[in-house]
Formats: sequence, C-alpha cells, structure tokens
Amino acid sequence: MKPHSRRAFLAGAGLAGAARAGDPEAYWRGIRREFEFPEERVPLNAANLCPSPRRVTACLEQFTHEIDRDCSLENRRKFAARLEQTRARLARQIGAGADEVAIVRNTTEANNIINNGLPLRPGDEVVVWDENHPTNHVAWDVRAARFGFTVRRVSTPRRPSGPEELASAFEQALSGRTRVLAVTHVSNVTGVRLPVPWLAEIARRRGIYLHVDGAQTWGALRVNVSELGCDSYSASAHKWFLGPREAGILYVRADRIPQIWPNSVAPGWGDDAETDLKGARKFESLGQRDDARLVALDAAAEFLDGIGWERLQARVLELARRLKEGLVEAGARLVTPMDEALSAGVCVMEVSAAVRQALVAEFYRNHGLAVAASGGLRLCPHIYNTGEHLERAVRAVRKTRSLWSA
Ligand SMILES: Cc1ncc(COP(=O)(O)O)c(C=O)c1O
Repeated sequence: MKPHSRRAFLAGAGLAGAARAGDPEAYWRGIRREFEFPEERVPLNAANLCPSPRRVTACLEQFTHEIDRDCSLENRRKFAARLEQTRARLARQIGAGADEVAIVRNTTEANNIINNGLPLRPGDEVVVWDENHPTNHVAWDVRAARFGFTVRRVSTPRRPSGPEELASAFEQALSGRTRVLAVTHVSNVTGVRLPVPWLAEIARRRGIYLHVDGAQTWGALRVNVSELGCDSYSASAHKWFLGPREAGILYVRADRIPQIWPNSVAPGWGDDAETDLKGARKFESLGQRDDARLVALDAAAEFLDGIGWERLQARVLELARRLKEGLVEAGARLVTPMDEALSAGVCVMEVSAAVRQALVAEFYRNHGLAVAASGGLRLCPHIYNTGEHLERAVRAVRKTRSLWSA
C-alpha cells in the first residue's frame, strides 16, 4: 500500500466505508478517533493550540527515537531531502512555489521576520489592524522605536455590514507615506475575517506591502496565497493545522524575498552577505533544527490532504455555524459575525472581562471543555469535535448564564 495515497489514508482511518456510504457524521466520528484526548478533556480552543492526530505524534516519536539511536551526520543526512519534501507539499497546499516558503518555528517568528526585515525609514508609515496579535502589533512599535517610522492603527466596525465596510476602514487610513499594511486574516479576539483579496487590490494599486497573519486560517480554510494576493503570510502548525508544536511557515512572494532581511544567519547561509540559500530558505537559517518535527509536519500536511481541503473548510465553517446558532439560542450575544464571508472557525461571545477567567475555569472543571478568554468567551471547534461537544458547550453556556449575563 502506498503510504501517501488518499485511499491509504481513508483505509488507515477506517473511513473508506463512511466516505463511500455518504455518511458524513460517521466519517467525522472516525476522524475524532484519530485524536487521543479523552471526552473529559475536550479541546475547543483551536485558535490557541490543537492536539495532533495520533499518526503525527507517532511520526514525531519515531524519528526522535531514530535520531537518539543514531545521531551521526550519516544517519541525519536524509533529513535534508525530507525537509524539501515537506516544503514542497506545504507550498503546493497554499498555491505557492516551494522557493517561497520558509519553515520556521511559529507565527511569532514569521511575523517578526517581516517587521524586523522590511527596510523602513523615518517618514515611512506602517498601518496595522488594532485586532492584530502582539507579534504583528506591538512588535511594529518596537521596530518603529528603532528605525524611526510611524505606526498607525485601524479599528473596524464592531458589527461590520460586509467586506466593503472592512476594506474601506483600511483604505481610508492609507497615505502617501504608507509602505506596509499588516493585518490578520481572521482575528483571534473577535473572529472577524478580513477581505484580504480586497485589501491586496488596494495595497497593490498604491505599491504598499501587504503582510497577512494567517495563524487562524492555515489548516482551517483552503488558503491560496495567489488568491489572497498578499506579499507574505505567516502561520503556526500547532493550531488549526494539527501539526507538531513549534513549527510554522512564512510565505513570501518571490519578488519580495530579496527586499527582506533575515532575522538570523547560521551555517549554510554562505560566506558573505549574499546568501547561497535559495528563495525563502534564507528566513530559516536557524542553526540545528529538530528534524523529527519537520517530518512530523509533513505527516500533518498529508493528514489534511487526505481529508481534502474543500471538505475540511466546509466542516470547520459548519461546526462554527452550528455553535454560533446554539449560542444565540442560549441567549448569548456574539462578537463574531454569523456571516461565513466575515468569519471562519473562531467563535467569540460577549462576556465582560471581569468574569471571563472564571467562566473558562468553570467550563474546564465542570464541563470538560478547554476554552479561552480572548475577546470574550472564545470557543473554537475543529474537525476533532463532535456534535455532542457543541451541544455540551451550549449547555455549559446556558448553565453559567448567571455569570456571563450579569
Ligand atoms: C493571530 C495570531 N497571530 C499570532 C499568534 C502567535 O502564535 P504562536 O504563538 O504560535 O507563534 C497567535 C496566537 O494565538 C494568533 O492568534
């Protein structure tokens, strides 16, 4: 049996029958069995961290042991080819060229390569969304303090009427001095999805660099960087991608790569300022890597390929819709739009900051649900979650009404 084929994946998961018989819930129950968390510790916090399927953990363990048994250079030489295999798959999945993808540690590192590496001067301006994660927000302030450019923040309407309104908030903030627009594909605090292709069009017309933090979309949506039209895109494997911890990607469009300085320079770079490394590989000059992790990243990518990106995205959006409808029925007010064009898998309900942590603790202790307090009560279901998990979350919201409605 060819280990990389889709049929092998389905058979391995015992899912071929379910897929053939057109029983989607049976199919997803099979996917849930790929994860080892018990029913008393259900993850509903994909925006922060996801469990990996057993096969990814097994792959990580297998190669970790293999290196521990024989850590010679001879034995590890093969990992150079495995790394390129991983890169090629990741690049294909997002519609990029292999030379445009760097495999880094996480979104944090990728975002900081961009905000540290773009050559900006006094008088230049960077426009950021005020919902950006600190790594794409205060990180710009740190660079501005060093290089003398200015940072301008854009707020978007609390209840956006549509992509036009979101795009226009950014367009109005741009000036003749704006060099960079740095946004987040889907906010981790409101769950709002920005119309990135619209922003790309606006930025391109003005010659502005567009960086997109994709921490909340890689592995949740079918991402295609050409369709997004951005200059760079960052993400972590340990979130929606279901990959190993401390792995991530930085995509940089080919023509932009020479403009961006690397954060670090290590053996393999070359002998002078001009690197020998091809394309985006110059951003992953990071010294000794954990080779086992980089192979396990490929195993996660293969797992998602096996599901299929249309099916994966449809399921993430369906789970989010079902959950949001349940929350509204339970009397909650959503921060996240119901509209799928304006949201993805991150679901946030309004809860005052004072009680959020107590609520998160209550969900964990008494309902076996791991949730978060970012932007309200944040619940992020993923493909390992079942209908029962969603019903349990809605029941927990009903039961804790006295806490959050106060
Ligand atoms: C939008 C966004 N960007 C960046 C990050 C940082 O991710 P990491 O800690 O994996 O680098 C997060 C983490 O939650 C995030 O939500």
